[in-house]
Amino acid sequence: MQMAREAGEPDAAQIVAAECVVEAETKDHLNWELLAQVAEKSKGDDRKILRDALDQVENEEDEHLYDTTGWSRELWIQSLGFPAVIPPPEEEKDVKTVIGAACAKQNRKGML
Ligand SMILES: [Fe+2]
Repeated sequence: MQMAREAGEPDAAQIVAAECVVEAETKDHLNWELLAQVAEKSKGDDRKILRDALDQVENEEDEHLYDTTGWSRELWIQSLGFPAVIPPPEEEKDVKTVIGAACAKQNRKGML
């Protein structure tokens, strides 16, 4: 991200930043899914502690991934010279599920 910013092309640097966040959020999402698997196999206090943590962040973490993926896609579309939906449909529709993200993406043309 630093290198992209120093290259002096702010639009390209913004796309690089968006892609870095998508990558981080994808890994974040995977890690929370793995913790959910561990919680499911755990018992007693361990299970409760993990479940409580998951309940606090699950929707929020899903939203991070869908919003940032939408931002990356729309910034790329904009960079290609096509009309983009900014902020992206996923963020505008406050998407919290993979199905919601797919619907938001499918309906983006109506939001142009
Ligand atoms: Fe996150």
